[in-house]
Amino acid sequence: MAWAIAEFDGRRNICPLSWQMIVSKRPPMMAICLKPSRYSHNLIVNAGEFVLAWPGDNLADITLELGNSTGCDVDKFTANKLTTMEGEFVRTPLIRECIANLECSLVKQITTGDHTMFIAQVMAVWVNQNPQRPLCLVNDYAGYDQLGEKGGYRVGAVRKRLR
Ligand SMILES: Cc1cc2nc3c(=O)[nH]c(=O)nc-3n(C[C@H](O)[C@H](O)[C@H](O)COP(=O)(O)O)c2cc1C
Repeated sequence: MAWAIAEFDGRRNICPLSWQMIVSKRPPMMAICLKPSRYSHNLIVNAGEFVLAWPGDNLADITLELGNSTGCDVDKFTANKLTTMEGEFVRTPLIRECIANLECSLVKQITTGDHTMFIAQVMAVWVNQNPQRPLCLVNDYAGYDQLGEKGGYRVGAVRKRLR
């Protein structure tokens, strides 16, 4: 799972997403799906870009908080003490605490039933030198350390195996 970061006209936001995937190798492209009711949705439409950031297992509680609050009411960056970095290609900020940040430039949007699929070209990738285990959405306990649950979302990380 990942966080979509969006910024437009001085308004910024973070939206956790489990619906994201690679859709092209050359050029590198990613797709994400957002409900139109998300505050982030129109920020992405208007900005024509977003950042896709991967949280580590140290960000489980914050991920659940980000996904159970809305940018309409709160600045999720300051409320969760997250720090930002500047990218090279996009104006949207990157999140310093995440394992990796992808700068994404919007190519196409498709309405898919009750969600919008945003397809974007990856312009740059930033990887944290000291990564944590990637945080995952957990449907089945087997093989995962469960790290938190809120609002119907359960998150965890793949269990380390010792030989
Ligand atoms: C683990 C997790 C995964 C989520 N995946 C998605 C997703 O793929 N698409 C989506 O639209 N919302 C998803 N959500 C819900 C949004 O993150 C949530 O509604 C959030 O509060 C929207 O914030 P916003 O209104 O500030 O944009 C997910 C939430 C969590 C906690």
